[in-house]
Amino acid sequence: MKIRLFQSSDLPELRRITVEGFEGIAIDQNVENKLGVLGDHDWRWRKMRHVDEDCEMNPKGVFVAERDGVILGYISTRVDHESGKGRIPNLAVDVSARGCGLGRQLIEYALDYMQQEGMAFAMIETMENNPIGQHLYPSSGFVEVGRQIHYARKL
Ligand SMILES: CC(C)(COP(=O)(O)OP(=O)(O)OC[C@H]1O[C@@H](n2cnc3c(N)ncnc32)[C@H](O)[C@@H]1OP(=O)(O)O)[C@@H](O)C(=O)NCCC(=O)NCCS
Repeated sequence: MKIRLFQSSDLPELRRITVEGFEGIAIDQNVENKLGVLGDHDWRWRKMRHVDEDCEMNPKGVFVAERDGVILGYISTRVDHESGKGRIPNLAVDVSARGCGLGRQLIEYALDYMQQEGMAFAMIETMENNPIGQHLYPSSGFVEVGRQIHYARKL
């Protein structure tokens, strides 16, 4: 298994892994569960769009885990050189490859990258109904700093 820099041909597979992985834990799915399908797109389309944005905004900070040419997962990052804040907006590992330490390795890889970019600290967030995130992030050195309540309404 190797972790390498994202390339644009990875995008369809990153989208697939994301939509499969975030079933049940995506905020846009919560919105849809409460308010119904909104506009012309469902939560899966909106979630895929997050991945596209990550790859557009900071392609040099998206890292892909691959074995024998098969993509197993990825992590995305943002770096703000003025504030010194690094962020991990998205992380997903294919269902077939979970529980082998890949998620943790991707986090460590992203943290190294953000440190090299001169970031002073890093942030990551997880949903209340995502027990894996709530285990994995504290055990990767993150401390909880706050909880947020999300509201949505139809227009
Ligand atoms: C989160 C995710 C990337 C982790 O990938 P992974 O390769 O399985 O991660 P790892 O194997 O490195 O570590 C998983 C850890 O979670 C633990 N874990 C697994 N299921 C768990 C559960 N139901 N409750 C609590 N901890 C759990 C594992 O024991 C392991 O911890 P350990 O190393 O202390 O034993 C993967 O589960 C995923 O893609 N989930 C869907 C998308 C997602 O949640 N992304 C993050 C959004 S905040």
